[in-house]
Amino acid sequence: MKKRNIAIFASGNGTNALRLIEYFKNHREVAVGLVVCNSNKAGVIDVARQHNVPVSIINKTLLANNGFMTSLLKLYDIDFIVLAGFLLLVPPFLIKAFDRKMINIHPALLPRHGGKGMFGLAVHQQVIDEKDAETGITIHYVNEVYDQGKVVFQARCPVEKKESAEKLQKKVQELEHKHLPEWTEKLVLQTRFL
Ligand code: GAR
Repeated sequence: MKKRNIAIFASGNGTNALRLIEYFKNHREVAVGLVVCNSNKAGVIDVARQHNVPVSIINKTLLANNGFMTSLLKLYDIDFIVLAGFLLLVPPFLIKAFDRKMINIHPALLPRHGGKGMFGLAVHQQVIDEKDAETGITIHYVNEVYDQGKVVFQARCPVEKKESAEKLQKKVQELEHKHLPEWTEKLVLQTRFL
């Protein structure tokens, strides 16, 4: 069977991208074939380069360009997309082309603390401000509405009294690093590719 290639779309430090790249390094059926990033200063670029994963740096205009994105993903034979801290809105043509073949990781228990502008520390600060007793991560398929695609997995952790947003972020990221690679593997392997 042909190896399935994942593209990771990321805008930030790339700690999740690193876990995915390491997890699939010697995998027999799945490989990370491309990192797509919209910021030339993002840490994820070094992560990818250090592991010999090709990087494509794009901007909003290129992301919205059907011809460009379709050719790019075809060039690297991409079967599945993982959004790991990608801050641009994915255009409808990509969502359609990767229906049930694109997942996102969100650092909270959706439907709480999702939607536009909800990323980074803002998410964890809102969890604290709203006095949630627990938080966690959500892995979900991507559809046209921000953070509203079908949820496939959630993991939880308690919010301690007086916990800072930074501390919460660290705890939640540990959950992400633990679960995202295995869930990506599971979802890629159960996907029917035509
Ligand atoms: C992750 O915590 C991810 O859940 C979050 O961005 C971070 C990226 O970190 N995504 C969102 O907030 C999406 N709304 P990383 O670059 O170190 O993987």
